[in-house]
Amino acid sequence: MKEKVGILTSGGDCPGLNAAIRAIVKSGYEKYGMKFIGFKNGFRGLIQNNFVELFPEMVSGILTHRGTILGTSRDKPHRFPENGVNVDKTEEAIKNYKRNKLDTLICIGGGGTLKNAYYLSKAGINIITLPKTIDNDIPKTDSCIGFDTALGIATDAIDRLHSTAMSHDRIIVIEVMGHRAGWIALGAGLAGGADIILIPEIPYDIKKCAKAIIKRKKSGKLFSIVVVAEGAMSKSQHKILSELACKKEKFVSKSEKIKAKQKLVEFHKEHLSHTLVITRQLEELTKMESRLTILGHLQRGGTPSAYDRIIATRIGTAATQFVSAGKYGVLVGLKEDKAFPIPIEEIVGKINFVPQNHPWIISAKETGIFLGD
Ligand code: F6P
Repeated sequence: MKEKVGILTSGGDCPGLNAAIRAIVKSGYEKYGMKFIGFKNGFRGLIQNNFVELFPEMVSGILTHRGTILGTSRDKPHRFPENGVNVDKTEEAIKNYKRNKLDTLICIGGGGTLKNAYYLSKAGINIITLPKTIDNDIPKTDSCIGFDTALGIATDAIDRLHSTAMSHDRIIVIEVMGHRAGWIALGAGLAGGADIILIPEIPYDIKKCAKAIIKRKKSGKLFSIVVVAEGAMSKSQHKILSELACKKEKFVSKSEKIKAKQKLVEFHKEHLSHTLVITRQLEELTKMESRLTILGHLQRGGTPSAYDRIIATRIGTAATQFVSAGKYGVLVGLKEDKAFPIPIEEIVGKINFVPQNHPWIISAKETGIFLGD
């Protein structure tokens, strides 16, 4: 009996998802004679049994296509929104997995997807996950599908903003994605020759940032490029956040935990406009005209880069090898271009932060980029 495999894409979309779907279906069908169905809109499709059959002809030509042919959502089986409340739909997911006589479910996604996959795996589903996130924050793998394309888009934007900053003698603040890890900001800032890069891993002091800009101005550089990760925070914000997070973990009383959790949510909501605040603060402190550009979802659109197509294909074909070998409960990681299985339980809930001594950090500092601290 040949294996029957379900595929879904979950979480934020990104370039390279279709390349991965294509690689799974083509390699699984040709090499192992596997059958495939694709659930629509992430875990929602699994819960609602909404799927399409996938054949090699259907995925032919999608290598270069943006988005995901399956659609995606951030829905979670264990907290599925129904009539305004979250309901545990794990049983429903298992029922549909069995009803379709699946042997494996391949989930392509980031940190949230890993959590969903972990719970389903514990509930008895044979799961294989593929790392996909422009944020590049999945631990233990060298590469995540989507990151390279996003890095290219952000770098291109910095290049374009450079010339206008220069022409007008302005400060231009560029907000890029990365709410927990600063890989895009650091990488694109390095590649685009930013003057200041602010990432969540290094809390910043706005006065020191302003000083760095004024020093630059005095040396004859009349403009500055400031690249900020959406999750970057000032030293004082970082202190508040750490205290709240600590309360959420430590306090025994349930009501206090709930209060801390609510405050954390509020903090993140308020934090949304923080790059506008940074821009205004820099204008005020330096007396230089300042502008803000938020790249937002532009970073998740468009054609995948050559590298993202290659890794999506590498990880996708490795996934069908793992299905055939019965290696379940794993994420397909890449190290020096070798695909290898990482047990989901080893990485679930963990984040691949930028290490303080990462070579990109060292090179940034050595080329005169100010990192905010
Ligand atoms: O895919 C990850 C990510 O790009 C984060 O950096 C960002 O905070 C988030 O997605 C926003 O996604 P959405 O608007 O789709 O919820």
